[in-house]
Amino acid sequence: MILRDMTEADLDAVLRIEREVHAHPWTQGNFSDALRSKYLCKVYESEADGMLGYAVLMLAVDEAELLDIAIAARYQRRGWGGRLLEEMMALARRHGMRRAVLEVRASNAAAIILYRNAGFTDIGLRRDYYPAENGREDAILMGREL
Ligand SMILES: CC(C)(COP(=O)(O)OP(=O)(O)OC[C@H]1O[C@@H](n2cnc3c(N)ncnc32)[C@H](O)[C@@H]1OP(=O)(O)O)[C@@H](O)C(=O)NCCC(=O)NCCS
Repeated sequence: MILRDMTEADLDAVLRIEREVHAHPWTQGNFSDALRSKYLCKVYESEADGMLGYAVLMLAVDEAELLDIAIAARYQRRGWGGRLLEEMMALARRHGMRRAVLEVRASNAAAIILYRNAGFTDIGLRRDYYPAENGREDAILMGREL
């Protein structure tokens, strides 16, 4: 399994996964902005299967914020999401980050379980933060030490 830098050339494949797994996907512009902003944008791939997923991490002074993480639908529930998350946390540590934070939709049970398994705990709630199918949806803020 390889974790490598995402480039503009990856964006077609990234967007295919993003649109497949997210009800409210990032746009090509969102990913281009993330690449330009020098966020840590990584692709997770295997030699045999190609791109399994990707993740985007923003580094602040000593705090990393996980902005996106996804595993293609056909590769989910095999442990890749958990491994990718740990790789991103290790990377953040190597960049001197002491803490990781993220926001997740209150309805995203799979991601919330994944984050709890990885040691994240709830640190706050933003009411009606996200647009949703019927109105708005809360964001749960989670964090962990690195
Ligand atoms: C969240 C996500 C990255 C998890 O990837 P994954 O490769 O399936 O995760 P793992 O196989 O490592 O799962 C780890 C654990 O999370 C939990 N989990 C993952 N998907 C789940 C689901 N659909 N329902 C319930 N629990 C789930 C399980 O506890 C799982 O362990 P288990 O399979 O041994 O029970 C993937 O579901 C995804 O891409 N979702 C869409 C994008 C998204 O919501 N990203 C997060 C918000 S930005």
